[in-house]
Amino acid sequence: MGSSADVIAFAPGRVNLIGEHTDYNDGLALPFAIEQGVRVTARASAADELLADAVDEDEHERFPLSELDPGDRTGGWRDFVRGAIGELGRAGHELRGAELKITGDVPPGGGLSSSAAIEVAVCLGLLAIAGDEDPDRIELARLCSRIENAWVGAHTGLLDQLASLCGRDGHALRIDFRSLELEQVPLELGDWQLVVVPSGEQHSLAESGYNERREECERAREQLGLDSLRDARLEDLERLPDPLDRRVRHVIEENARVDGTIRALRARDLEAVGPLLDASHASLRDLYDASTDAVEDTVRRLERDGASGARMMGGGFGGHVLALLAPGVPAPADGHPVAPSAGARLLAAE
Ligand code: GLA
Repeated sequence: MGSSADVIAFAPGRVNLIGEHTDYNDGLALPFAIEQGVRVTARASAADELLADAVDEDEHERFPLSELDPGDRTGGWRDFVRGAIGELGRAGHELRGAELKITGDVPPGGGLSSSAAIEVAVCLGLLAIAGDEDPDRIELARLCSRIENAWVGAHTGLLDQLASLCGRDGHALRIDFRSLELEQVPLELGDWQLVVVPSGEQHSLAESGYNERREECERAREQLGLDSLRDARLEDLERLPDPLDRRVRHVIEENARVDGTIRALRARDLEAVGPLLDASHASLRDLYDASTDAVEDTVRRLERDGASGARMMGGGFGGHVLALLAPGVPAPADGHPVAPSAGARLLAAE
């Protein structure tokens, strides 16, 4: 590679500062794009197929450009590429044959959306070599989330894809999943730090309790006769059996914590953010039942070592823990610092 015909698409992973399990309930979240992500180098070819090279896995595969079936899952990176071809085709994009090199540096361990990063980077790369360098980002987020739902088998919402596509350097992104209104909120850390720490427990959204939580929310919504849980009120909870009442309480209170966090950020009061992260974690653990022993051990260790706040991140059931550290509090040796960075983009070919 390296000729002028190459296109390089980069899509970041994300950290969700707060607002967990709210996206598929038409709620609020406050993620930011991180520096680490997935890079796809694409070169158009005359062949009627994609030849993809997963550099970090040292694996290669040929993919036809049509007649792919979402049911034929293999459980690895291939599903994302097949899904990208399938969904872009369904959406009416004319794809060209190409060679792709895929490589990434999202810290392994889960919760940082390497899935969204690969979906977005592959789609941006394929669209760019087909001549579309500036696709509508909200439409593309929806398309990528269909890849995740139909081709990967995780019934996730739009959080990860929107954060990867619409993040901005130095900002967190307030997402209102009902209106899809996006608001950039300055996230100025100064001497504070945000770090992500692996719990040591890898998670797969398709296989964890994630899909089950989503079904529970759907049942609660039906029982309350609402269009979405965004409209649920605390007084509705007594009409729901356990555990649905706890799931809904989490959603209502987590939405409120998102706006509480934004108020604190706007007042440059990072001190006030820590307790909100802790409250989010306690709610995900006690009301949403999304924690594990390894996550609890990690959170406790971070608290003991002086974190201002710490919480599980993403779908939960393992994966990374996010911690906020006040100036002077040393970062744990196994932590990766994270900072709000630019969203997905095409890079100049080297
Ligand atoms: C995962 C999903 C998101 C979101 C979070 C929980 O990251 O991919 O859509 O539901 O879990 O907030």
